[in-house]
Amino acid sequence: MKLHADCEKLLFSAEEIAAKVKDLAARLDEEYRGKTPLAVCVLKGAAFFFCDLVRAMDTPVQVEFLRVSSYGSGVTSGVLRTERTFPFDPAGQDVLLVEDIVDSGKTLRFLKESLLSHGAKSVKTATLLDKPSARTVPFSADWKGFDVDGGFVVGYGMDYAEKYRDLPYIALLKREIYRR
Ligand code: PRP
Repeated sequence: MKLHADCEKLLFSAEEIAAKVKDLAARLDEEYRGKTPLAVCVLKGAAFFFCDLVRAMDTPVQVEFLRVSSYGSGVTSGVLRTERTFPFDPAGQDVLLVEDIVDSGKTLRFLKESLLSHGAKSVKTATLLDKPSARTVPFSADWKGFDVDGGFVVGYGMDYAEKYRDLPYIALLKREIYRR
């Protein structure tokens, strides 16, 4: 497939992503054998990964979708909130939080703590991409697909100004697009 004109470099093709999703699904099946976890998608970025991942798993899961937003000027404020209290009851559930990317670590750290404080039996996290160099709070996902480093990553759910989520691959955005 032709790379979008706003992208500088292909990072992971649709085929590479599909192979990684299959691999992660197999590892999750091992972890959750005999259980029915509650798989929670952190909208919007994780939506594509989430739908592919749960369908690649043999384990039966229940699904929920969460929108998380930050107070003030973006996540730099460091205060996150769910749009409302959880739209489901996590008490007693084995929760699997699914993200597209972990940057600062604030979103998953906050959600994990919050779900545990609402009585979740266990909370584990799976992310397709991990950017360890961007961490501002300590956080490690239980499962991750690929490491990424600098640059602005788009595609397969990830956006810049709400564009590029629908690209089937993951790519680096050209600097002139996000600097202007
Ligand atoms: C992105 C991503 C994660 C979060 C990771 O979401 O999908 O949810 O940021 O960043 P963190 O580790 O620094 O908390 P974003 O706020 O861009 O919303 P979106 O998923 O709707 O695009």
